[in-house]
Amino acid sequence: MNTRPGKFITVEGVEGVGKSTNINLMAKLIRDAGHEVLLTREPGGTRLGERVRQILLDKAEDTMSPMTELMLMFAARAQHVEELIKPALADGQWVVCDRFTDSSYAYQGGGRGLGDETVAMLETLALGDFRPDLTLILDLDVATGLSRATADAEADRFESEERAFFEKVRTAFLDRVATSDRYRLIDASGNMEEVQAQITSLMTEVLSK
Ligand code: TYD
Repeated sequence: MNTRPGKFITVEGVEGVGKSTNINLMAKLIRDAGHEVLLTREPGGTRLGERVRQILLDKAEDTMSPMTELMLMFAARAQHVEELIKPALADGQWVVCDRFTDSSYAYQGGGRGLGDETVAMLETLALGDFRPDLTLILDLDVATGLSRATADAEADRFESEERAFFEKVRTAFLDRVATSDRYRLIDASGNMEEVQAQITSLMTEVLSK
């Protein structure tokens, strides 16, 4: 399907599933295989995107409508893809992105209740047919994830949501898996070594292709 030398990989999951640690491991494995890798995140990744991120995470924005939230996610994403991701791929780099459009399906489509079709319309508008080559969905029960996530920093606008919101987000992520063969579901409930073993085996397979 794609002729890009480098692959575009996205990593998804509810708060506290351990994306950061695993993304760092993935980047190391890609580099060890002799490739250049760009690590980036959403919302954000560009100067404009990071400014939009500040608005999105700001607890003071307590009247933001779900549609505004979704459109801001896609505004940041459109910039990110054009300014950073596509040029890096064209340059032969691999790109690993901490969250991408599947977070919009999960948080705005599922959590906020906007539904898949609305998200899909914006996806087509903003991205055309540009999609990740591979998406890892790290899955963990919500209570465990939240207890890990809130252990450190002060809660942002999303982290301040109720548990029921994150249950909807988790369900929406799990529903994504059946929609394309680019998804790999990772059981993030084990200890760090167990999760990293799953990631290492998957990346070894991807890097050998
Ligand atoms: P971040 O601090 O990066 O969360 P985490 O460390 O859990 O990845 O904050 C990003 C927040 O934005 C996170 O709560 C999920 C949310 N989000 C959406 O709701 N929709 C989206 O499309 C994206 C990319 C993120």
